[in-house]
Amino acid sequence: MNRQAASMEALVSLAKRRGFIFQGSDIYGGLAGTFDYGPLGVALRENLKKIWKDVSVNRRDDMYEIDASLIMHSKVWEASGHTETFTDPLVSDKETGERYRLDHVLEALDIDPVGMTLDQMWDALVASGAKSPNGNEYAYPMTFNLLFPVSMGASETSAALAYLRGETAQGIFVNFKNIIDAYHPKLPFGMAQIGKAFRNEIAPREFVFRSREFEQMEVEYFIRPENWEAAFADWQEAMRTYAQEVGIEMKALHEKEIEKEDRAHYSKRTVDFEFEFPAGTKELWGLAYRTDYDLSRHSEYSKVDLSYFDDATGERFVPHVIEPSLGLDRTMFAVLASAYDEDELGGDTRVVLHLNPKVAPVKMMVSPLLKNKPDLVAKAKEVRAALKKIHPAIAWDDNGNIGKRYRRQDEIGTPWCVTIDFDTLEDGTMTIRERDTGEQVRVSLDEVVERLKAAV
Ligand code: GAP
Repeated sequence: MNRQAASMEALVSLAKRRGFIFQGSDIYGGLAGTFDYGPLGVALRENLKKIWKDVSVNRRDDMYEIDASLIMHSKVWEASGHTETFTDPLVSDKETGERYRLDHVLEALDIDPVGMTLDQMWDALVASGAKSPNGNEYAYPMTFNLLFPVSMGASETSAALAYLRGETAQGIFVNFKNIIDAYHPKLPFGMAQIGKAFRNEIAPREFVFRSREFEQMEVEYFIRPENWEAAFADWQEAMRTYAQEVGIEMKALHEKEIEKEDRAHYSKRTVDFEFEFPAGTKELWGLAYRTDYDLSRHSEYSKVDLSYFDDATGERFVPHVIEPSLGLDRTMFAVLASAYDEDELGGDTRVVLHLNPKVAPVKMMVSPLLKNKPDLVAKAKEVRAALKKIHPAIAWDDNGNIGKRYRRQDEIGTPWCVTIDFDTLEDGTMTIRERDTGEQVRVSLDEVVERLKAAV
């Protein structure tokens, strides 16, 4: 299908208008880098998480899912290297004090900042002669740590410094021994987690692409070091499967090998899955070979042995790790951008989301042909109640003419609309209308149920 590319404005407007995504703390002017999700956003995110869990956990026999605390000990972040290296280069306007990410400023000047030290970036900026967006000089840059500190405890003097987690991954590493002790898994095995992560981004922007509070879906897959390449390839394939199943446009998805200078401090190999977002081609997800970096560092800092004993070979060693890391918010954005279309149907232009039925937040809409005919309304309610037993996301709409009702559902990606008319009262058949083609056929309730079951 050749779709109309989604502009940022069109997506933001649709997301707000139809209750997918709102600005966080909206009535107070908004809080930058935070978002609230409305009913359709919640349902869409649940479906994306469910499919991720199917692909990464439920279809396998070697996975352990956890849900770790969002607030974590400051030592965790010292051990992981985040306190020291989880920084972005920051440059500010000398007059207004406004702050910008120096690497983004350079990129906008067509200067590639990859591999540059802070001084080299500064020299490049000075050499370019660029001024701030307000036309002022820039001040000498600094590095800015992205972790959110939290002060824990009742009194200021006794409060301990902790951090909101900057990635869900560390919640997995600190629970490695708990899982080993409780379940005695054999290598290879993985731990999975879905949950919020927090980063004090200097420049949150491009809608939900870069926010300060976001959700991650991460796996840490523990292996013998000699097996890392095979495990890396397996998880790369699993990420492609996930992309396909959630309906990300595969020709807009690109896998990019990340050079050493641009990899995170813990990674020996990274492949980024990049997506052609409305504002440009950027990282959607990452796949990294984290070696034994994290477990070794946590062993060193916590003084707790995080090695693994192999009964079969009698060896004791620290497992290595492959990490597929997916951001839920960017996934949602990519799925919406992939599904968005403005096409012509029946002589009218419409906005439509061609969402995979398993991803669609509303599965079906049921409506009586006329809302002032009690028999039709009662029958439609009966049909809706029957369908809701299979899946709760069955909408009701009896407002306006039937064409308008269809358009409202097209815009939120509802795959099917079911209309109850006078023939339904006679023979139990109903009209089902298909979102993508607009095609309408008369079917029995059983056939409607069959379609719905395939979308669950
Ligand atoms: N555990 C590895 C890790 O956190 P990352 O590349 O920093 O690696 C992984 O983040 C994924 O989390 C990204 O590919 C992206 O999908 C998502 N992500 C990272 N920062 C984000 C932000 N500020 N806003 C929204 N999503 C973000």
